[in-house]
Amino acid sequence: MEGIARHRAWRRTCAAPRVEENLRGTADRESGRAAMRASQNASASRTRQGQTDMWPDRKLLDLLEIEHPIIQAPMASATNPVIVAAVSNAGGLGSFGAAGTPSPKLRETIKAIRERTDRPFNINLFSAHTEEFDRDARPGPRLAKQLAAYHAEFGLGAVPAPEPMFGPFDGQLEVLIEERVPVVSFHFGADAAAVGKVHAAGAKVLCSATTVDEAKTLERAGVAAIIAQGGEAGGHRGTFSIDYQRALIGTMALVPQVVDAVDVPVIAAGGVMDARGIVACFALGASAVQMGTAFLGCPEMSVLDAWRASLRNAAAEDTKVTKAVSGRPARAIRNRYIEGVEGLQEPLLPYPAQYSVSRALRKSAAERNDSGFMSMWAGQGVGLMRDQPVDDFMRDLVDAAQILMARLGSR
Ligand SMILES: Cc1cc2nc3c(=O)[nH]c(=O)nc-3n(C[C@H](O)[C@H](O)[C@H](O)COP(=O)(O)O)c2cc1C
Repeated sequence: MEGIARHRAWRRTCAAPRVEENLRGTADRESGRAAMRASQNASASRTRQGQTDMWPDRKLLDLLEIEHPIIQAPMASATNPVIVAAVSNAGGLGSFGAAGTPSPKLRETIKAIRERTDRPFNINLFSAHTEEFDRDARPGPRLAKQLAAYHAEFGLGAVPAPEPMFGPFDGQLEVLIEERVPVVSFHFGADAAAVGKVHAAGAKVLCSATTVDEAKTLERAGVAAIIAQGGEAGGHRGTFSIDYQRALIGTMALVPQVVDAVDVPVIAAGGVMDARGIVACFALGASAVQMGTAFLGCPEMSVLDAWRASLRNAAAEDTKVTKAVSGRPARAIRNRYIEGVEGLQEPLLPYPAQYSVSRALRKSAAERNDSGFMSMWAGQGVGLMRDQPVDDFMRDLVDAAQILMARLGSR
């Protein structure tokens, strides 16, 4: 077991990424490197000449005015101005997950991104209805007992009563409009009024859908493009219309059905980890991909050490969709907290009350670097995550996708 973990750690840090090795088809690493450099130079020169027609679909590239159809997913608490700007500078779309960022801090964050890039970037909010808060909600007897036991174990005192978290949405949205953020994305649905407001300010709105019906609803609400989020995806399910268990549709099945159902460009999300995933999504009809878990391997990402270690050693079967952390379904790496709370077999609190009563445990886990009580969001592709600085990662994705498309096209 330890040997496997060691091998995987070696493969991620030292070995050339598997896609490149496959694509090169040669054991001669030096000549492979030379070929890759030549390809990078060719890519740079194409870009310089403005010839960026290598992608099979330009809909989203033209809409968002970006060079490569690669969106680094907004990931609240893990993204920061450095990673966002780096992805945008590399020709993709960097995204900041701002759900938990109060308005004044959000303004500073946008400024910090702009200091690092003059290219388009995306700021993401959880939709307004997620602020609804049931003031009377209290943990059931088993949850209360379990939380109290954890609090006692870590010396955290009494478990506080649930309180609202995040937002206020209206204030956050106002900042995005005033600051003329070029791209705004929503999670958990989008209402037509908010979409109209953002579009009137000249920005483009994206939103996640997890079923064909949700995609149609979003199109009616006026979004510019739809993120089809498959069940493999890490983090919160964007589901906003039906029970989440009915909406755990895999990316392979969801994307082409959404593509057939709507006229706006579709962005595939969920399990896209490398160039193979990108090219596959184009074959399914997507105009771009949104990748979350894959970017967690970049050292520039704000990922706590114990979470990073868990990501490095996790396999697909180590993740699960759970409501234990926030009250809304989200895919995370299993840990002691999730197993303990799910084992209670008692209804949990609604979002965001569940998030709020488990907050002190997460804070303490971060201080103690304890993976047992962190929220370690990750998707099923986690076994393919590799440690790579963001510039190298972006360059390899683009180069490997080009080579793969050329190979497939020539068969
Ligand atoms: C750590 C993490 C945090 C996330 N936070 C957000 C978020 O704040 N807003 C959002 O729209 N999506 C969020 N997501 C979901 C992503 O937008 C996207 O759907 C998902 O990462 C795609 O699947 P993948 O992780 O397999 O690439 C998050 C995903 C991860 C892994």
